[in-house]
Amino acid sequence: MSVNKKIYESRRKQSIGDKTAKLLIEQIGHELYNHNLYRTFANYFATKGLNKLEEYYIKRANEEIDHHTWIVDRLNYADVLYSYPAVDPVEVDIKDEYETFVLTLDKEIETTQLIYGIVAAAQEENDWETFNWLQDTLVNEQTEEEHISRKFLKVAEQDTDWIAKEEYILDAYNAGDSEEE
Ligand SMILES: [Fe+2]
Ligand SMILES: [Fe+2]
Repeated sequence: MSVNKKIYESRRKQSIGDKTAKLLIEQIGHELYNHNLYRTFANYFATKGLNKLEEYYIKRANEEIDHHTWIVDRLNYADVLYSYPAVDPVEVDIKDEYETFVLTLDKEIETTQLIYGIVAAAQEENDWETFNWLQDTLVNEQTEEEHISRKFLKVAEQDTDWIAKEEYILDAYNAGDSEEE
């Protein structure tokens, strides 16, 4: 196989393809939006006196900061020069407790689709390093994020009071966390 010299020139600067890098930079903004959304839900539950759900959503929000940091570290490592993207304001109309669980699952499904778009760009640009990195980090993480969001939506649907539901959700979330270690 002959090697295209143009590849040398672009990789002297950065080792992520232009399209893939652009989508990763945009994803920083999406992950920060997710953080702000979950902090908004935490605030809603704080004002309702459901402090275990407040804690649950603070922890979910902290995970979003981690996802953002994975991308930032990766871009720095690959020598991609960029500025932070704009983050949309959170404009949600929370009807009731249950609604936050629906909005959470929908947001995670949307996030998975965005990440699959980055995977497709990496494949298109023959950027196999980023392709594999995405699988090990954001793709695997989305499987977990969607799973717990679906699981807790089912709990939110149960015919019991929110004091019982919040207890179960926080315990189950914390137990899952320690399993991951
Ligand atoms: Fe995320
Ligand atoms: Fe997670």
